[in-house]
Amino acid sequence: MTKWQKSDWRTKPRVQMPDYLDQDALNAVEAQLAKYPPLVFAGEARALKAKLAAASRGEAFLLQGGDCAESFAEFGADTIRDTFKVLLQMAVVLTFGAKVPVIKVGRMAGQFAKPRSAATETIGGVELPSYRGDIVNGFDFTAEARVPDPQRMLQAYTQAAASLNLLRAFSKGGFADIHRVHSWTLGFTDRDEAEKYREMAERISDTLDFMSAAGVTADTTAKMSQVDFYTSHEALLLEYEEALCRIDSTTGQPIAGSGHMIWIGDRTRQPDGAHVEFARGVINPIGLKCGPSTTAEDLKVLMEKLNPENEAGRLTLIARFGAGKVGDHLPRLIKAVREEGANVVWTCDPMHGNTIKSASGYKTRPFENVLGEVQEFFAIHKAEGTIPGGVHFEMTGKDVTECTGGVRAVTDEDLSDRYHTACDPRLNASQSLELAFLVAEELSNMRQESQRAVM
Ligand code: PEP
Ligand code: CO
Repeated sequence: MTKWQKSDWRTKPRVQMPDYLDQDALNAVEAQLAKYPPLVFAGEARALKAKLAAASRGEAFLLQGGDCAESFAEFGADTIRDTFKVLLQMAVVLTFGAKVPVIKVGRMAGQFAKPRSAATETIGGVELPSYRGDIVNGFDFTAEARVPDPQRMLQAYTQAAASLNLLRAFSKGGFADIHRVHSWTLGFTDRDEAEKYREMAERISDTLDFMSAAGVTADTTAKMSQVDFYTSHEALLLEYEEALCRIDSTTGQPIAGSGHMIWIGDRTRQPDGAHVEFARGVINPIGLKCGPSTTAEDLKVLMEKLNPENEAGRLTLIARFGAGKVGDHLPRLIKAVREEGANVVWTCDPMHGNTIKSASGYKTRPFENVLGEVQEFFAIHKAEGTIPGGVHFEMTGKDVTECTGGVRAVTDEDLSDRYHTACDPRLNASQSLELAFLVAEELSNMRQESQRAVM
């Protein structure tokens, strides 16, 4: 077999990618991006892979979340800070509530390109090409905005670089210090959830005070003042991905320099397609969305292609079936994984199988279905004796009304109040926290049961 090349995907069938009209302009952008520094480094991607390997064994848990689609218009320090805060809070709930190390991965600093269920959109009798994410075309419903513009890749790169710079500062510069656990709450978080979080934060503070009184060394405390935070996105726009692909100088292997972890979407996982071809050649941890139409045969071929060495931590299977459907699909895929003896991290995306159109016309997700899918995911892993390794969801630190339900119930009528997403409906901060408490409970029940089993 000839050696993998970063441009090999170009010989394969491609779906969900724009047809740029001006080839010269596209080439110029690709050439420019190819000269820019990578956003992430191979050592970081390897470190994340090692942590995911721990998640595959049940020794860590993956928390992956952020926007459905990052947008140029919403870009700003506050947006990044608030999403980061919610992820930190969720991580605290899981670490403290379930006593498990949490791997924090944002759908951030690169999550710009979107697959769409229809190539065009019709409003009031006018049909235009669909919006495909800010890295491709504009959200406005005008013919001009919807033309794919390669220049947008440069803006996406710049925004990703600036976002990552801030995230690195937040992670390492003191903001994420566990001693500041109280400061990550957002003013508008629902009272019940905020209260539950506050109580937990109190207990953490007490524990920290105790540790310092008991003389736990500064070394340990220093470790607690920083977190490791990773970025991820769907590797959909392959011109962008190829242009940011680099060779890791320590191993000589190719790495996607666009983010630490990349995933393949449910619409682009054709075993012989362009997206699988690109992902199989880079050393990053790879996510693979598995929806109701994923067959056991395809999954086997995909696992072989994407992880031929069966390396632990390399492949994360992101199940997204929809509430009420996990039982129809997860067991048959677990069986396929078992038959292959494959190493995977099983995670649950309770968002993408639960999108509906509300009576008021908005695309929404009932929060009870989101929680329901997570519960089904845990129940099936328990029944199968396999390991639930993480969750993947769309959320924001902003006080939006995009998903219905939650403790402070968002109703159908409320959706129009603060519906800001550029694509799919996201959980707001309260709903995200509520989800974290539920996951923590599921995880700690699981731990208790397995401890009982060994007694
Ligand atoms: C997404 O994660 O935003 C997405 C489009 O998911 P899926 O490919 O699972 O539909
Ligand atoms: Co989405």
